[in-house]
Amino acid sequence: MFKDGLLRGKRILITGGGTGLGKEIATRYLQLGAELWLAGRRGAVLESCAKELASKYGGSVNTHAVDIRDAQAVDAMVQRIWDEAGPLSGLVNNAAGNFISPTKDLTPNGFNAIANIVFHGTFYVTHAVGRRWIAGGHQGSVVSILVTWVWTGSPYVVPSAMSKAGLHIMTKSLAVEWGRHGIRLNAIAPGPFPTEGASKRLRPEGDFSDSSKLNPMRRVGRMPELQNLATFLMADGCEWLSGETIALDGAGHLASGASFTELDRLSEADWERMRAKVKAQNEKDRAGRSA
Ligand code: HXC
Repeated sequence: MFKDGLLRGKRILITGGGTGLGKEIATRYLQLGAELWLAGRRGAVLESCAKELASKYGGSVNTHAVDIRDAQAVDAMVQRIWDEAGPLSGLVNNAAGNFISPTKDLTPNGFNAIANIVFHGTFYVTHAVGRRWIAGGHQGSVVSILVTWVWTGSPYVVPSAMSKAGLHIMTKSLAVEWGRHGIRLNAIAPGPFPTEGASKRLRPEGDFSDSSKLNPMRRVGRMPELQNLATFLMADGCEWLSGETIALDGAGHLASGASFTELDRLSEADWERMRAKVKAQNEKDRAGRSA
């Protein structure tokens, strides 16, 4: 779809870049010649992703272990990039956290665990990068990974839906405020693109076959589709496109609205079982964290 070397000369930071959708986007950007910086909480996971990608495609893949909930650590990471490599040209806000839960059962900590990553953390990264772009007179492009719940809302994932909706508005607001600096912000709102992180926390006992049945195109997303849209939004050639959130879901949300409405049928015992599974996955991930 794109010409070789399309992203050559671009230095791009991808949060949550070591796994899932972030890794997929990183792969395509690297193939097209970008210099990459991957951020995430698990240093070893980032390292192994960077090694894998560099050995397959060559190029420059750097890593930085960080928890984006920590504003100071975020600022230090962005300063390191500026000092060691130079100004970024692009940022992909991909890092997120989520789990399904009846909202009545959430504790304040449970809400904050998600809101602090998605809502606060994404702002910290965007702010740390954007203010340096403005100070240095650099242009830049931000692509944030949201979800179609920014339009429909979604039961059982309320902290995520609220936080992502906030980022949808951040995208519009900063597109206006920072447009005169040559900074643009856009977002992708994917429907279901199965990844391990999402499956283990959002479908702990099932798969995405229900989503496929309901979707007008009778399937879930294919990674190249996401990679291609993320590339289009990052590449030069369409700079007047700013402030947009583009759904990539086969018109799924137009056909059936919010996700997870089927969870209304679950009993308390079902939820108890699922909660244990999600928490086991969280424990497993936490054991690998270095930031
Ligand atoms: C209820 C839960 C819970 C669950 C955690 N908590 N899991 N409450 N049900 N299943 C509560 C805990 O009890 C605790 O509150 C609080 O949340 C913090 O839990 P920790 O495990 O200590 O948090 P932490 O280690 O910081 O982990 C953050 C996380 C975790 C968000 C909970 O899931 C994570 O790190 N996720 C990153 C990857 C991820 O989620 N990927 C999926 C993204 S999918 P108390 O009160 O007990 O202290 C996505 C959109 C997909 O974003 C869209 C698809 C269409």
